[in-house]
Amino acid sequence: MDPQSAAPYFDSLVNYVKSGVLSFHMPGHQQGTGAPAEFVDLVGAGALQADITQVQGMDDIHRPFDGCLRAQRLAAQAYKSDRCYFLVNGSTCGNQAMLLACLNPGETVLVPRNAHSSTVAGLLLSEARPVYYQPPFDAEMGVFHVATPDSLLSVLQRNPQARALFLTSPSYYGAAADVDALVALARQRDMLLLVDEAWGAHLAFHPRLPRSAVWAGADLVVQSSHKLVCGLSQAAMLHANGDRVERARLESVLRMLQTTSPSTLLVASLDTARRQLAQEGQRLLEQVLQLADQARAGLQAAGARLWGRRPGVHDWDDSRLVFSLPGFSGYEVERRLRREHNLQLEMSDSQNLVALVTPGHTRQSIDRLVAAVSELAGQAPEKVHKIRSPHLPELPESRLSLKQAFLARWESVPLSKAAGRICVDTVCPYPPGIPWLLPGEVPSPALIEELQAELAAGVTVQGAYDPQLETVRVVKE
Ligand SMILES: Cc1ncc(COP(=O)(O)O)c(C=O)c1O
Repeated sequence: MDPQSAAPYFDSLVNYVKSGVLSFHMPGHQQGTGAPAEFVDLVGAGALQADITQVQGMDDIHRPFDGCLRAQRLAAQAYKSDRCYFLVNGSTCGNQAMLLACLNPGETVLVPRNAHSSTVAGLLLSEARPVYYQPPFDAEMGVFHVATPDSLLSVLQRNPQARALFLTSPSYYGAAADVDALVALARQRDMLLLVDEAWGAHLAFHPRLPRSAVWAGADLVVQSSHKLVCGLSQAAMLHANGDRVERARLESVLRMLQTTSPSTLLVASLDTARRQLAQEGQRLLEQVLQLADQARAGLQAAGARLWGRRPGVHDWDDSRLVFSLPGFSGYEVERRLRREHNLQLEMSDSQNLVALVTPGHTRQSIDRLVAAVSELAGQAPEKVHKIRSPHLPELPESRLSLKQAFLARWESVPLSKAAGRICVDTVCPYPPGIPWLLPGEVPSPALIEELQAELAAGVTVQGAYDPQLETVRVVKE
C-alpha cells in the first residue's frame, strides 16, 4: 500500500467524532451542541463536531508521539524534507520561528526588503541585526522580484559575518529564485538559508512549477498550506533539512510561538491536503496550469496585458494570473470586478492584478473571470490610470534598532511632517504587504511624497497605529 494514502491525524479525529464520547472538555461549544444556531447553519454541524482539543487519542502538536507525528513524517516524505512541523498560525509564525531559532541578538541576517511583514516580528523578537537587500526591480511591472546570486554580491561582500540569508520565493507575483544556486552560495559562506516559501506549498508536485527550496536543501523552509493548496486558513508547514539548525531550539521556539490549543480542524486539514497532493497533486496541478493557460489566452484577447516569465527572473509560477488592464489602475479593476461581477481577486497594486488558480477552480470559473474582464475592458475607467515613472523606494536610513524604536517614547505627527523623524510605526502598503518604513528608520521627503501618492491612488496601509496614515508615530524629541 502507498504509505501516502494514509492520513493518521485525520483518522484519529474521525474516530473521536464517531466514538460519540460525552465530552467535558474545551471548546465550550461541546462539539456544536452549545453553539449559536446561526453559526452552526453557516459552518455545518460536522465542522463543529470535529473542533475538539488535544485530548486522549488526538496527540499533541507540541510534543507529538502518535497521529500528529505520523502525519508530520508523511508530510516530510511527500515534500522530501528531513523533518516537517505543522503550524496553526500560518507562515507568519513560521517566519518568526525561523528567525528566533537561528539568530542570537546582534547576529546579522540578510533580509529582502520586500519580505513579508511577519519577518519584522521575527527580527524584533530575535533582536538579530537585519541588513536589507533589494532584489532586482522590474521597472515595467513596477515590482521587486526575488534575489539572484548577483543581486546579493555587494551585500555579501559588506557583511561577510552574516549568519543567515533570508529568502522570499516565490514572490506574490510568481517570480521564483534559483534555489539551488542560493543554497550553494549560502553553503560556501557558511550561512544558514531560511526560505519563506509561503506561496510554494504546491511546487513539489508538478514538474512545470519552479523547484522548491525544500528539494534544493535549504535549512528551513516555511509554506502556507492554505494559500495555493487545500489546507484551512492558517494551516502551514515548516520544513527542516540537515542539522545546521539546532533542533531542540527550533522545537522550543515553536512551542513558544504557537497556541497551546491548536485547532484540530486545521491540523487535520494539513494531513488531508498533504495526502491529496501526494496522491493526486500532479493531475490537479496539470488541470490548474491548463486552466491558467486558457485564462491567460482569454484575458489577452480581452486586451489585458499578461505578465509571465521576466528577464532576469530564474523561474515563474504559471499557476497564477498576473495582469494589468491598460488605462485602469489595478485597484479599480479589483473593486469593479467585485462590485459589478461578484468576483474577488487575490490582490491588486496600482498597476497589476493577481488572481490565483487552484484545484478549486473549473472551466466555468475561468470563463466568468475572462468575460468579466472583457466587459470591463470595453468600458471607460472611472479614472484614467497613467503608469507613473518607475518607483524604486530607497532604503531609509536606520537610526535605532527595531527593538529600541519599539520601546521608545513616541508622539504622533501628521504624515506630511514625518520626514527626518525616527519612525516607531511600521508603514506597510497592503497589498502586497511590503514595509516601506520600519521602526527605527527615518523617511526622506521623497519617500513621504511617494507614500502620499500611493495613498491618493487608493492603497491601504497596514502596521501603522493610524490606519488612514494621516498621522504616523515617531520617537518623541
Ligand atoms: C511571502 C509571504 N510570507 C508569509 C505570509 C504570511 O502567511 P500566512 O498568511 O500563512 O501567515 C504571506 C501572506 O500573504 C506572504 O505573502
